[in-house]
Amino acid sequence: MRSDTSQTIYRNDYTPPAYLVDTVELGFDLDPARTIVASRLTMRRNPDSERAEIELYGENLELVALRMNGKPLGKRDYRIDGNLLRIANPPQDVTLEIETITAPEKNTTLNGLYVSNGSFFTQCEAEGFRNITYFPDRPDVMAKFTVMLRADKQKYPVLLSNGNLIEEGELDDGRHFAKWEDPFKKPSYLFALVAAQLVCQEETFRLKDGRDALLQVWVEEGNLDKTDYAMQSLKNSIRWDEERFGLELDLDRFMIVAVGDFNMGAMENKGLNIFNTKFVLANPRVATDVDYAGIEAVVGHEYFHNWTGNRVTCRDWFQLSLKEGLTVFRDQEFSADMIGTASGRAVTRIEQVRTLRQAQFPEDAGPMAHPVRPDSFVEINNFYTVTVYEKGAEVVRMLQTLVGRDGFRKGMDLYFERHDGQAVTCDDFRNAMADANQRDLILFERWYSQAGTPIVKARTQYDADAKTYSITFTQSCPATPGQPKKLPFHIPIAVGLLGADGRDMPLGQDGANGSTAVLELTEETQTFNFTGVGEQPTPSILRDFSAPVVLEYDYTDLELLHLFSHDSDPVNRWEAGQRLAMQRLLRLTSAVASGGKLELDATFIDAMRKILTDDGLDPSFREQALLLPSETMMAEQMSVVNPQAINAARQFVRATIGTTLRTELMQQYLANMTPGEYSPDALSAGRRGLKNLALSYLAAAPDADAIELAQAQFDNAGNMTDRVAALIGLIHAGADSAAPALQAFYADFEKEALVVDKWFAMQAAAPATTVKAVRELMKHRAFTLKNPNRARSLIFSFCGANPAQFHAPDGSGYAFWAEQVIALDALNPQVASRLARSLDRWRRYAPALQGQMKKALQKVAGGKKLSNDVREVISKALA
Ligand code: PHE
Ligand code: ZN
Repeated sequence: MRSDTSQTIYRNDYTPPAYLVDTVELGFDLDPARTIVASRLTMRRNPDSERAEIELYGENLELVALRMNGKPLGKRDYRIDGNLLRIANPPQDVTLEIETITAPEKNTTLNGLYVSNGSFFTQCEAEGFRNITYFPDRPDVMAKFTVMLRADKQKYPVLLSNGNLIEEGELDDGRHFAKWEDPFKKPSYLFALVAAQLVCQEETFRLKDGRDALLQVWVEEGNLDKTDYAMQSLKNSIRWDEERFGLELDLDRFMIVAVGDFNMGAMENKGLNIFNTKFVLANPRVATDVDYAGIEAVVGHEYFHNWTGNRVTCRDWFQLSLKEGLTVFRDQEFSADMIGTASGRAVTRIEQVRTLRQAQFPEDAGPMAHPVRPDSFVEINNFYTVTVYEKGAEVVRMLQTLVGRDGFRKGMDLYFERHDGQAVTCDDFRNAMADANQRDLILFERWYSQAGTPIVKARTQYDADAKTYSITFTQSCPATPGQPKKLPFHIPIAVGLLGADGRDMPLGQDGANGSTAVLELTEETQTFNFTGVGEQPTPSILRDFSAPVVLEYDYTDLELLHLFSHDSDPVNRWEAGQRLAMQRLLRLTSAVASGGKLELDATFIDAMRKILTDDGLDPSFREQALLLPSETMMAEQMSVVNPQAINAARQFVRATIGTTLRTELMQQYLANMTPGEYSPDALSAGRRGLKNLALSYLAAAPDADAIELAQAQFDNAGNMTDRVAALIGLIHAGADSAAPALQAFYADFEKEALVVDKWFAMQAAAPATTVKAVRELMKHRAFTLKNPNRARSLIFSFCGANPAQFHAPDGSGYAFWAEQVIALDALNPQVASRLARSLDRWRRYAPALQGQMKKALQKVAGGKKLSNDVREVISKALA
């Protein structure tokens, strides 16, 4: 029974809680069909509130008993409205005892207490705790938790919760118990329990202050050979936070638990992080380089939350980016520092820019556009977005750019000095940064309050006689839902000037020394002057992608080629290549659509050749520089999107590169083999990346040699990275051997769920895979909608990563999408709602496709039992 609570909630309506909770004692009698939860809360009036009412949230609960200060409460002593239980005029100090019953085995939402593969797990962020017991389930209510778990010993030998294990023992009837105590007060969304059949890899680890902490990674029995990298990443994270931010682990024990059914990547529950298996399990046989990097990033991310999120948490869910934007920024810096080299750092930065353009810019331009700190929502789960996370991280990064690395550290120190143990706002964070550095960051607030991607237009002027150079920037920002007009942003723009020799010119600008100046644009239009500029420079603007904006500047091909060959800033060097490629891709897309001749100029091919064969450049950088903008990024550049023409144009460029650079690609393929034992380090991964990119270009213009090469790599691969790359090569080349290879792959890995996910995903994204083929794959015995990873691997991959087939002119892709959204919604609204967003950009397609998409959206909108999650997304898309 889902209570109907589809109201819009507004940030400005925030009021402090009327009652605070000091301590929580929870008792669980765990049973899949009928779990009894007994809760004892000590509460008191909040001096900061005028209201005299206790408000407890509860959903999908059977209330068995409710006592206040020892006295049972009858039906007239409290009211239940929807998901709120209210007790009016309670005394100053209150002890509440609540008993409820839930059925975890029936919980397919994976929110609250649920069963996965026969074991119990919880997920409480954002509002899952209210599915476990009645509670003031809001992040500004922080309490000390003690948890008693009781369960069958044989089925659930491992009983875990937050904090420290203080007691365990036997009970009657083959049951046992464990009592856990978390020494830190925390909001309910950080509560967790696990009752499961698991084993762990563990280690004691010496912290900076000399204390020893017990680190554990818990997995199912057969997976103990896949925990090393997660453990190593955890240790690296602990060290890194000590060194970079002076932040130590505050617990004696830190646990990571892997679960196969999980809605998101992972969750930072205090001392008991619960992870999607995808971000824990790895060995060379089953995991790719990308998987390894994901594990390092997510382990770091959840660990870093212990300070940014847990010790200092959010006052309300509108402040989500306070913890998420900051923690993503921290995990990005961690991953970059773990590589260490400047060009390795740049590659991580390039990947971040790609994510922004691929996912965040479209979100910011679509019907779900929202500020980093949203003003309203219907369902908070819909706001765990690339805007809150990745754009939020960009906003934090800009703060660091403005106050410098040391200044940023000072700001962080002040933030913790002021707010440790509190639930605070994005403004509190910005103010700590401003005060620690005596900076005025008032205008900077607009990055939090205004949605949309700013557009910065640049014009330049060189005066040879005066040796001056000026850049004039004009900023604007498109309207977004509810925000027709925008005020100027405070934008740090890092700029360098290249001479004809390709070197950076020394900059005489506002006292800036060195070769990169950070210009601060705060008005709509501003001009910046450089003096002592001896020759007409080529401007390198927005170095290191210093702000999440669209930069418009009329670069000539010659200038772009110059930057692509010489820019000392690797991100802008890459960017020049992307601009060159995008211009050509868009021109070719129109040519495809109008039946024109398809041609790729030698200048572009030569530029690609130069980068490909430049052994002075890191392989990972060369890989990035040679990767074309995606079909989604191309679509974002077009006023009317034609998915099939986009695909054909991009395929043409890939095939042309594959043909004309055949010799060089083959050379690089051979030169970048990584024989010997597999290692996921950045250099080896970079070499594999370049080698496999070479293979994919060769396979894009398939001749017998290319197919043979892919087949040989598939047969002899010593790791999953090479195996998957080879298989994708065979599939995309349309090789006869693709089908048997897919079969062999499945047979080898059918017991490895995460590899079976890859098997589905590769097929879903293959150019030849039609809607019909996807429907066939859904009948495979390994397919199920109930497991989010599996649903994502087939259905999301098809709807998101195979645009030319998904947007089939007959609308069959959209009809399929509507069916799957509805089917998923009945099981798991959070996952369904993510799929629902596949049609966000429907208004940008040709009228015929638009009509089909609208029909599909309306079909979903008409669903009778639609969740709030899906309803919010669909109604915003149709608005
Ligand atoms: N807070 C988690 C993270 O970013 C994400 C998450 C949100 C997980 C909601 C589950 C549910 O680390
Ligand atoms: Zn997070």
